[in-house]
Amino acid sequence: MKKIFILKASKAKTSKDFLLNDMPGDGGRMDIVARCVNSSFFLSHGLRNDTEFIVTFEGEPNPPVTLRFKGDRLKYMGPDERCIGGLIKKALENVTEEEKESTPGIFVSKKGFSDILKEADSDIVYLHEDGEDIQTQTFSSDKVYFVLGDHLGLSEEDESLLENAKRISISPMVLHADHCIIIVHNVLDRKNL
Ligand SMILES: C[S@@+](CC[C@H](N)C(=O)[O-])C[C@H]1O[C@@H](n2cnc3c(N)ncnc32)[C@H](O)[C@@H]1O
Repeated sequence: MKKIFILKASKAKTSKDFLLNDMPGDGGRMDIVARCVNSSFFLSHGLRNDTEFIVTFEGEPNPPVTLRFKGDRLKYMGPDERCIGGLIKKALENVTEEEKESTPGIFVSKKGFSDILKEADSDIVYLHEDGEDIQTQTFSSDKVYFVLGDHLGLSEEDESLLENAKRISISPMVLHADHCIIIVHNVLDRKNL
């Protein structure tokens, strides 16, 4: 099964001018984005090539910007936040309406969160602590989109775009987005999906 994680990064900077030494502050919580990239792809000795990670940046100065990471094409990416942050900076150097590949496996465009949801062409799951328990779910599609909020969660307006998505919970506790991705992978790995 192909897994596609979608994160809305509501404050992430939409220019390359953020400091790698201050991704949480200057980058508008770009540290969360980098950790979600790590959780989406990194195995001990390799990358998950059946996974994509899509993040929409909604911060200043030029929102929205979308980055799409494709596990089967990624190269030159180390698991640490600085390396991932450096590739994000590179992608933000030249953003055009049309999606283009900035470095192998990383695609950038001017799409926003609603565009990404409209394009989704298979089952959509909204990961939320009040949803149905993931352990009771069956996944029959060959592709599933998992949508997450950042430290601020999703707004009511964002949630209205997810009316037809199934709400699924992975824990009774509210977790960090990157930890949610790890847990979803683990549940699906154990089901051989
Ligand atoms: C740090 S949490 C958001 C916290 C934010 N203050 C709020 O209350 O919405 C980041 C995201 O992880 C996901 N998430 C957190 N805990 C979860 C859980 N127990 N089950 C499923 N998804 C969860 C949600 O998508 C959430 O928007």
